[in-house]
Amino acid sequence: MRTLKVSMGERSYPIHIGSDLYARLPGLLRDRGIGPDRPLMLVTDTHVRPLYGEKVTEPLREAGYRVGEATVPAGESSKSLEHLSRLVEEALRFGLDRQGVVLALGGGVVGDLAGFLAATYMRGIPFVQLPTTLLAHDSSVGGKVGVNHPLGKNVIGAFHQPVMVVFDVETLRTLPAREVISGYAEVVKEALIADASFADWLLRNSERLLRLEPALVEEAIWNGCRIKAEVVSRDEREAGLRAVLNYGHTIGHALEAASGYVGLTHGEGVSIGMVGAAMLGEALGTAREVVQPTKRLLTAFRLPVQLEGNWSEDDLLELMRRDKKVRGGAYTFVLPERIGAVRVVRGVPEEAIRKVLRQLAAGEGS
Ligand SMILES: NC(=O)c1ccc[n+]([C@@H]2O[C@H](COP(=O)([O-])OP(=O)(O)OC[C@H]3O[C@@H](n4cnc5c(N)ncnc54)[C@H](O)[C@@H]3O)[C@@H](O)[C@H]2O)c1
Ligand SMILES: [Zn+2]
Repeated sequence: MRTLKVSMGERSYPIHIGSDLYARLPGLLRDRGIGPDRPLMLVTDTHVRPLYGEKVTEPLREAGYRVGEATVPAGESSKSLEHLSRLVEEALRFGLDRQGVVLALGGGVVGDLAGFLAATYMRGIPFVQLPTTLLAHDSSVGGKVGVNHPLGKNVIGAFHQPVMVVFDVETLRTLPAREVISGYAEVVKEALIADASFADWLLRNSERLLRLEPALVEEAIWNGCRIKAEVVSRDEREAGLRAVLNYGHTIGHALEAASGYVGLTHGEGVSIGMVGAAMLGEALGTAREVVQPTKRLLTAFRLPVQLEGNWSEDDLLELMRRDKKVRGGAYTFVLPERIGAVRVVRGVPEEAIRKVLRQLAAGEGS
């Protein structure tokens, strides 16, 4: 097991990464001051519960913890106020009180939803993240929690830091291949924004990482979490620096939304978005020779680097304008300076974005 610390003063917390960690949960909870006198509420989804529910609850019950359980349907649609309300009902029935602790076992959907339950239940109780998707190495760190509204994704939410993250990498073995690949998009993103040597390492080891060799996956997640943790500890509430984590996301979110969140996964959208950001960077002169290395790395993880199918340029631009990161009508982008460094650029001209969308559709290089 390897442990990383997210430094945020009183709200600092450990991230434990390794194999067969759920058996150690009672001890890890006690290390955080959470003993068996505190009621625990496990929140998970219908895919994850039969796979890992008991692996989590059994050792806890054996150690004397009282554990309630609530399961939401797998999928993004569970990130809603309706499901939040149902969880509150189940928590009340179980007798979760102010001493209670929420355990979020699952991917980003469960993490965001259960985290928001913890942020709001009785004005806020602690929660523990038990991520089971590769993408969730990203979503479980940083304390952004929330649910969707029919008019917008993640528009109802809070900053609520977990008291601990326990990432058992063995759980990734049951993850569908497309979700694995999609998760690597965020790992690649972390390398591209902050660490060129990590980017090299990812390129050299992509095949073994795709095969989910535990020691390598652990190393990749450790580095991904390290970079995310560094950024969020310096800017917990997204005043500035934290925006770099949105690299590739302006175009990525627009593609995801335009595809109705079914055609493209989040990671696939972000992958194409990072190629777009690299093209934009070269066109605007913030960077040189970043498009090809970006594509090479993404392709090594079987991630898409061009736009397939029919996309309306106007629709995509409209979606980018609506993105909550676009301020005062001006397009703001995170653009590369080189591989391993990015910066936020405001006032990106619309014509340059249109050109990049056309290049992406044509599958052009730089
Ligand atoms: N809070 C943040 O900072 C942050 C960052 C990025 C993304 N997110 C959010 O994360 C969500 C996406 O997360 P996700 O990609 O993990 O999706 P997800 O939670 O829907 O999981 C993907 C699918 O895999 C299944 N699954 C999960 N773990 C499994 C396992 N070990 N084996 C087999 N199947 C498994 C799930 O049931 C689901 O069907 C989005 O809602 C997004 O907004 C949040
Ligand atoms: Zn993302």
